[in-house]
Amino acid sequence: MSRAVVIDGASVPPEQATVSVYDRGFLYGDGVFETIRTYEGELFALDEHLERLAHSAERVGIPFAVSKEALTREIADGLAAARASGPTKENYVRVMLTRGAGPLGLDPALALKPLRVILVEPLKPLPPELYCDGVAVVVRQVARAGDAAEGAKVSNYLASLLALRAAKAEGAHEALIAGADGSVREGTTSNVFAVRGGELCTPGVDAGILVGITRLHVLSLARAAGLVVREGRLTVDELLHADEAFLTSSLREILPIVRVDDHRIGAGAPGPVTRELHRRYRAMAGVGHLPMPWEACS
Ligand SMILES: Cc1ncc(COP(=O)(O)O)c(C=O)c1O
Repeated sequence: MSRAVVIDGASVPPEQATVSVYDRGFLYGDGVFETIRTYEGELFALDEHLERLAHSAERVGIPFAVSKEALTREIADGLAAARASGPTKENYVRVMLTRGAGPLGLDPALALKPLRVILVEPLKPLPPELYCDGVAVVVRQVARAGDAAEGAKVSNYLASLLALRAAKAEGAHEALIAGADGSVREGTTSNVFAVRGGELCTPGVDAGILVGITRLHVLSLARAAGLVVREGRLTVDELLHADEAFLTSSLREILPIVRVDDHRIGAGAPGPVTRELHRRYRAMAGVGHLPMPWEACS
C-alpha cells in the first residue's frame, strides 16, 4: 500500500504505530504539521515546508528538537520504506510535531518532551472532473483555533472541519472562511484567488491566512507572466463578481472555482488565466511534460 510511519526517528510498521493517549496532540490539538507531496518521486518544496514547520513550532512555543537535516533524513527514510512496502505513482508526507505527553492539564509546562511523527501515504489524485468542470464552494464565517497563532499550521482543525462538513452537505467541494467584516480569508485547507478585470487578487498575509506555499509559487508565477497582482482585502462581493476564481494547495495545485454559494463565477467554467497558471505551476514542479489533469476528461 506504499505507507510508512516514523516516530521520533524510528520506523514503525503502520499497523503497529501508536502514540500515548496522554499526548497533547490528541488531548488538545497541541501540535503543528505540514503536508508535502512528491512529483515523480521527489518531494516538492521540502525546504519551504520545513521552514514553515519550524515557524509554526516557534509561533506556538513547541521546541523543534531535531535539526532540519535530521528531519529531512527521517522523511527520506519514511519515503523509502513506503516505496518498499508497495507501488504507487506518488506519495505525500504528513510531518507532525506535538508538545508531547504529560500529566493531564492544559498548562503547556506539563508537557515532558515533544513528539514527532511522519506519516507517508500514497497520493490519490483528485478526480480529473474537478479540474475539467471546476468546483463549488460555500462561504462560512468561522473562528478557528489557528487564529490565535496567526501564520502557524496548528493541528486543531475542528472549526474548519465543521465548515467543510457543512460545505459537503451542500454538495460543495470546499468552505471559504470569511471574516465578520465580509472579507474572504481562505479555504479550510486552501488559499483562494480571484481574477477581476485582468488583475489577480488574493487575501493578504494580514488577513489571518495560512501563507500557503502553493500560493507563494502562484504569486511569483503570475508576476513572471506579467499579470497585475494584488495581495490585500478580498470581499465576498468581489469574489462573487470575479471573472475567474481558484483554490490553491499542495495537493490540489490550482483548482478552478465555478460557483460560490448560489452565484456562478464568470462563465461558470474554468477560465484561461486559471488554466495558464496551472500549466506554469506544473512546469515549475517539473511535470510540465505530463498531461494536465483536465486533459483526462473526454
Ligand atoms: C488553512 C490552510 N490554508 C492554506 C493551505 C494551503 O497551503 P499549501 O499551499 O502550503 O499546501 C492549507 C493546506 O493545508 C491550509 O490548511
